[in-house]
Amino acid sequence: MLLLCIETSCDETAAAVVRDGRAVLASIVSSQIDIHAEYGGVVPEIASRKHLEAVLPVVDKAIAAAGITMADIEGVTVTRGPGLVGALLVGVSAAKGIALGRGLPLAMVNHIEAHLLAVLLEQEVEFPFVALAVSGGHTHLYEVKGIGSYRTLGQTIDDAAGEAFDKVAKLVGIPYPGGAVIDSLAKDGNPAAIAFPRPLLHDGSLNFSFSGLKTSVLNHLRRHPDAASPAHLPDLCASFQAAVCQLLVAKAAAAVARTGCSRLVVAGGVACNSGLRHAMQQFSTESGCRVFFPSPALCADNAAMLAVPGDFYLSRGLGAFDTDALPNWPLDQITAELAGTLT
Ligand code: KG4
Ligand code: ZN
Repeated sequence: MLLLCIETSCDETAAAVVRDGRAVLASIVSSQIDIHAEYGGVVPEIASRKHLEAVLPVVDKAIAAAGITMADIEGVTVTRGPGLVGALLVGVSAAKGIALGRGLPLAMVNHIEAHLLAVLLEQEVEFPFVALAVSGGHTHLYEVKGIGSYRTLGQTIDDAAGEAFDKVAKLVGIPYPGGAVIDSLAKDGNPAAIAFPRPLLHDGSLNFSFSGLKTSVLNHLRRHPDAASPAHLPDLCASFQAAVCQLLVAKAAAAVARTGCSRLVVAGGVACNSGLRHAMQQFSTESGCRVFFPSPALCADNAAMLAVPGDFYLSRGLGAFDTDALPNWPLDQITAELAGTLT
């Protein structure tokens, strides 16, 4: 099935054309980041307006880049949630309009589900696996038994990992979203220079907490105002990043041990982080657990990743679960809704 995929959950307007849920013919991402950077974070109202301007041109671009016409499209898939409600509504309305107008089936899929499955566009990963979703809004551990079968194992009790990166970046004057800049500065720093705390590291749960870590960075900056100077910033970035990575790896390792899974997928924007990739690789070598990362373009928000669940649901006649955008949509809800439908 040739699918048109549309993603507008946050600050990227994206469209893709994917064949049979695996072969990406085109993937276009139009970012609004420069506009939101002025405000130090995503402004929901601006995001909706920018999606409205961009969504149809981005769809046209994806169709052209795939070398096809709209008449070749056999199904549509769109992000239903989670995300900003106004932003989601733009993509959902566009997808509904295209699907209704052309008589095509529509699958409304979960953004986090798409992140977890994005790796399947590039690599074979057998089920079951443990998945760590690390993005600007999520830091969740799941057991993935198959497409549509998810169990939440743990999650952040406050900030998401990406949010922590972005907030620390803001504290030291790096524009939003600062995660990637912290990553590159950290490469020249000493990760042992500053002993930041590791919240919840030994609490026996699979949950995360990052807000205290961010406050520790703030307190350190108050005590050492020169810590954000060009000479010392790499040490601060490396020390902060080391703390985040240690927490992510330790909890993911505990989830692997608890479930007995021998495969771990790391997904979402923070999965681009070089320190995390390195630390996960080390965990893989030590434990024998295979660790899978999508390539950076598929870690960040994109529409191609929607094709994996979208194609799966459409080919089983499980198109639109509902017709509205859903800003809060835990993955376990999908599993409950699909109980007994999937074989
Ligand atoms: O998945 P994503 O593109 O959008 C959301 O669904 O949130 O993730 C964006 C997040 C931002 O917080 C950004 O700072 C972070 O991913 N990020 C990184 C890196 N690249 C992106 N964080 C740390 N290191 C990176 N290299
Ligand atoms: Zn995302």
